[in-house]
Amino acid sequence: MPRSSRVSETQWDAAQHAERIHWRKILGDPAKRDRLFRTLDYETQQPYIERLTDWIGLYRPAGVVLDIGCGPIGLGPFMRGVKLYGMDPLAEWFAAGEPAFVGVEYAALGYTRVVKGTAEGAAQAVAALGVRTDQIDVILCCNVLDHTANVADTVRGIAALGHLGTEALLAYDLRTLGTSLHPTLVDGEQVKTLMAEAGWERINYFTTAPVPWHVNESAGVRIEHYRRQTDLGFGWLLKRVKDRTCLSEERLQGLHWAVAEVNARGLSGDLVECGCYRGGSAAMLGMSDTRGRRLWVFDSFEGMPAPTGDDPPEAAKEAGTCRGDAGDVVAFLAAQGLRERCAIVKGLFRDTLAQPGLREIAVLHIDCDWYESTKQCLDALYDKVVSGGVIQFDDYGHWAGARKAVDEFLARRGIQATLKVLDYTGRQLWKP
Ligand SMILES: C[S@@+](CC[C@H](N)C(=O)[O-])C[C@H]1O[C@@H](n2cnc3c(N)ncnc32)[C@H](O)[C@@H]1O
Repeated sequence: MPRSSRVSETQWDAAQHAERIHWRKILGDPAKRDRLFRTLDYETQQPYIERLTDWIGLYRPAGVVLDIGCGPIGLGPFMRGVKLYGMDPLAEWFAAGEPAFVGVEYAALGYTRVVKGTAEGAAQAVAALGVRTDQIDVILCCNVLDHTANVADTVRGIAALGHLGTEALLAYDLRTLGTSLHPTLVDGEQVKTLMAEAGWERINYFTTAPVPWHVNESAGVRIEHYRRQTDLGFGWLLKRVKDRTCLSEERLQGLHWAVAEVNARGLSGDLVECGCYRGGSAAMLGMSDTRGRRLWVFDSFEGMPAPTGDDPPEAAKEAGTCRGDAGDVVAFLAAQGLRERCAIVKGLFRDTLAQPGLREIAVLHIDCDWYESTKQCLDALYDKVVSGGVIQFDDYGHWAGARKAVDEFLARRGIQATLKVLDYTGRQLWKP
């Protein structure tokens, strides 16, 4: 057991009171407030903020970020191209302001929405934000574990959020004695054990040098990086497909996670790939599935068709490339144990996608580079993707025509969902 994993209600109230006093001093002083809001280089927190932002930069931007215990500013100003949500027990107090300070405008800081809430009750607060817990891609939880009334419940509250592949950054103060502002002593190994029980793997952690906080002494800040894991089979699958695919590891992992996630959620539907070339990514889709879903593979097996005026000029030289062989792909998929489940449909998408046997899709992989091909896939198959299902676009960042087809389709249908970034080109749409 950690030395103290639980503080009393009174200690918690005292901590909240200390928190108010602390923030009143900052928010009530125009110079300090300005500096905090303008640059976030509030000197006592700089090493800590820098490490967090490094990590956020390193581990890909994602669709939905939840800042648990965001305080009056959080990491909003660093978050670009994401949907940022926040929660804090004092959120309403920060927003309302009082004679001592000007209220916080979370929207101006980049937050889509911020609600009052604690990490222990994160699932309820997330519901109040209007977000599903499995839509959260990144969880930031900075200086919360050491403020909380109960570390174990707090960790469980955090661990219940996210989907397979969600990343969590937990940062907490390591002072040697609890203070009223940081009343709880946190045991990193206990946090790791609790997270592991809930299926999270700690990827990395480190401790910053002691930093001179305003109140009392600090032994530094510990920052832990977790990822919610799938099974450990991805590396093994990767070895089997990597020589037969143009996809990056990130995009292959995106397919793997998508299948694992629709399985975990018990969604119905088949797996579909449009554009298989030598069958590597189709095999990743099929082998990632443990439920015996049907795998549909569509390709002309005549290589890339000629692009149209909606594709960039450099696309012209690609016509005829990526020519796969249907017999070879059938043999490869059969060698991976997918023969029984797999339907290979040869021909141009415009002639083949309307298959009567294909009624519902759980995961759809669109990898056909050009505007027309991508448009045909979306027009024919989007409505068959079940709610909560995933569409992965391989070429969104690389080929302007593919991007145009996706953007036009989403705009035409009024679909608001954020595309998740897998790498410079791969995107995922989790169907609302
Ligand atoms: C980039 S390759 C696919 C790569 C593959 N997913 C992998 O794992 O490496 C694109 C494929 O899309 C197919 N394709 C493109 N447009 C098509 C269309 N309109 N109809 C049928 N096949 C098409 C091409 O024949 C080619 O095999």
